[in-house]
Parts: sequence; C-alpha cells; structure tokens
Amino acid sequence: MAPFSRFLLAVALLPVVDVAAGVAPRGTRYSGIFSFGDSLTDTGNSLRLAATGSGPSSRPPYGETFFRHPTGRASDGRLVIDFIVEALGLPNPRPYLAGKSAGDFRRGVNFAVGGSTALGPDFFDSRGLKPFVPVSFTNQTSWFKDVLQLLGSVHEQRRMMARSLFLVGEIGVNDYLVALGNNTVGAGDVRTFVPHIVAAVRSVLTEVIAAGARTILVPGMIPLGCEPQLLALYRSSDYDPETGCISELNHLAELHNRALNGMLRQLRRAHPGVAILYADLYTAVADFIVSPRKYGFRDKPLAACCGGGKGAYNFNMTAFCGAAGTAACADPSEFVSWDGVHFTEAANRHIACATLKINSPTLLNPWTAEAMQRVGCAA
Ligand SMILES: *[C@@H]1O[C@H](CO)[C@@H](O)[C@H](O)[C@H]1NC(C)=O
Ligand SMILES: *[C@@H]1O[C@H](CO)[C@@H](O)[C@H](O)[C@H]1NC(C)=O
Ligand SMILES: *[C@@H]1O[C@H](CO)[C@@H](O)[C@H](O)[C@H]1NC(C)=O
Repeated sequence: MAPFSRFLLAVALLPVVDVAAGVAPRGTRYSGIFSFGDSLTDTGNSLRLAATGSGPSSRPPYGETFFRHPTGRASDGRLVIDFIVEALGLPNPRPYLAGKSAGDFRRGVNFAVGGSTALGPDFFDSRGLKPFVPVSFTNQTSWFKDVLQLLGSVHEQRRMMARSLFLVGEIGVNDYLVALGNNTVGAGDVRTFVPHIVAAVRSVLTEVIAAGARTILVPGMIPLGCEPQLLALYRSSDYDPETGCISELNHLAELHNRALNGMLRQLRRAHPGVAILYADLYTAVADFIVSPRKYGFRDKPLAACCGGGKGAYNFNMTAFCGAAGTAACADPSEFVSWDGVHFTEAANRHIACATLKINSPTLLNPWTAEAMQRVGCAA
C-alpha cells in the first residue's frame, strides 16, 4: 500500500526554531544530543529529501500549536526530543541534512528521518515488501560516521561523544507498518521481524558506544494497536474490550519491548561504564488511552485530531491531515493523536515528562524539579 509512505513523513523547508536558545541551566552535563529514529523524532530531515520533501508535515496545519508554521515535525507542535532538549537546556540538534560543517554538528545532530525503517531494503525485498523511504538505520549510522570524521581527531571525537546524550529510537514502527499496512502480512508473521529490528538497534548502539558515547536513551515501541491509522485500516477481530485497541498489535509491541530490553541488559553487562536508559513509550501512551482525563484528553483517545475521516477514529487515508477538505480539531491538546499516525504536542509533552521522571537520577539529578518545571511537567 504505497500511499502509506506519504503519511509517515515529517516535512517542511522552514528554519527550525531553537527552543532551548542554547542557554545551559545550572547542572547541565551534556553538550548536545545525537539522535536516530523516524518521524516521531525527525525535526527537519525528510523535508530535505527529494522523495519525501512535500509530504503532509510540510504544510499547515502541522506546527500550528507551537512553531506557528510547518517545521517538518509530524505534529501540531513539539516532539518528545524537543521537550527533552528543552528540559536539559541543550541546543536543538541540527538535522543532519541541514548541515555541512563541523561547526553545524558540534552541539548535536538529528539523524532521524520520517518513514525510516530500522531494517534495510534487502530485508523487505526478500519478503515482497517495499520500504516507504530509502532510509534505514544503516544510512543513519553511516551519516553518524561521516559526522565523526568532520569533528576532528579520534581523541577529540571521543571527548565530544562522552559529553553528549544519545537518543536511539523510537524505531521500528515503519518496519511493522510496511507489512501491516499492506494487509498481506498479519501480526503473526510480523512477529518474526522483532529479532531483526532489535539487532539493527543493537548495531547502532554498538557503533555509538565504540565512538565514545557514555549516556544513551533508548525509547521502545508504542502501543501499535491503539494507533487510529491501524485501527482504521488493519483487519483484525482481536480488540481489547476495555480500550478498543487491537490486542494482537499491542502484543506485537510488547514482544518488541521485551526483546529490546533483553538486548539492553546484555549491552549494560558488556559496557558497565555506559549508562543505557530505556524510555517506556508503551506504558506512557497506554496510560493516555486508559485514563485520558487524567491528562486533559477527551474521552475518545483513539480518534485523531486532524483528518478528513468520519467514524470513531477520524482517519481516512485519502483525506489525510492537511489535504483539501480536511480540518484539525479546535483544541489539539484534548487529543492523543494528531493525524492518526503521530502524537499531538500535548501527548509528546506527557511522554517526555514520563521519560524524564523515570530516568531523572541519571539524566537530570540534581536539578530535576527545575528542569521538569521548565517543560511543564506536572510535579
Ligand atoms: C504488498 O504485498 C504484495 C504481496 O506480497 C507485494 O507484491 C507488494 O509489492 C506489496 N506492496 C508494498 C507496497 O509493499
Ligand atoms: C541509504 O542507503 C541505501 C543503500 O546504500 C542507498 O541506496 C540510499 O540511497 C541511501 N539513502 C539516502 C537518503 O542516502
Ligand atoms: C475518504 O475521503 C475521500 C476523499 O475526500 C472520500 O471520497 C471518501 O468518501 C472518504 N471515505 C470515508 C470512509 O469517509
């Protein structure tokens, strides 16, 4: 189902606003952030690729809540990474495709591309599937190596990597969507992708650790079965009676997260000097669905804010958010899902808060309260 591709991309040709203004608060111990991932993290790469440059998030109403114009982020405002850099007082990392010189990259780089898979085209070819965009973790890793070369001597590179925070993921949603969106491969078969995806994440982690990374945050899989897009398009008869989410897809995400955590435990044993943290996106998002009011969301947390759909999920593939005749809801902060695929800024803020809170002894201590307050996390 080729149309899927267009909708997973984050796009726009406008300059990225520097949220954090580069002023490091007291206690900051990182000089910048290096990130890898897909449209949940892309802050401006896919709009600079010919294949993806004119996708939905290059147009209004993307960006309407925070930046007030489209920035290439697949949301009405900020992404989880924006809240994390804001809390840590770091500059916004330069999207890799928007930079050239060492000076552009010294304070961090964002390699994430909307639509990116963890796995490369060969994996999909051999299964009769086609990735949405020509970018996988293999490309993002080779871009990282290119940046390292620019940054100077090996000694200098290692010094910079040791002072940076690494964000590796979320990745894998698109690997599953390439198959599930086609509706030719079911959740059962897609379970066989899990070890391959986890191995691809491991390979990036091994690469950044070898380059000198000391602090790495690894976000896991989201509850796929609660995504409006999959609820609208994936044929299933296996729904959770309490939430209305597709159980077999949530079980797939849980399997992914168990495998990912098993791999992270091995890496921690192998590299005791490196802090390898896990960001539990699954629990954060599942909590929105189970208790929407607790977070200020409406009672229908499975419906998208923006789109041209009718029915329970407000999702229609041929009337995607931003297309003629579609509209955004009046108040995106009442919705978990922005466009049926990506989260609203409000949801991203809560996800960032949950991530910062759980990992605060390593990431934030001793100025946790101040940093959490800065991004608007509840006490
Ligand atoms: C969907 O699956 C069919 C059968 O495996 C394959 O021929 C087709 O190329 C797939 N399409 C996409 C977009 O992956
Ligand atoms: C990613 O890597 C593949 C395989 O080397 C290549 O064909 C593709 O063009 C690369 N993508 C980009 C955007 O450079
Ligand atoms: C989806 O959108 C298209 C284009 O606007 C429209 O023709 C179609 O009826 C819509 N389908 C549903 C189920 O709303």
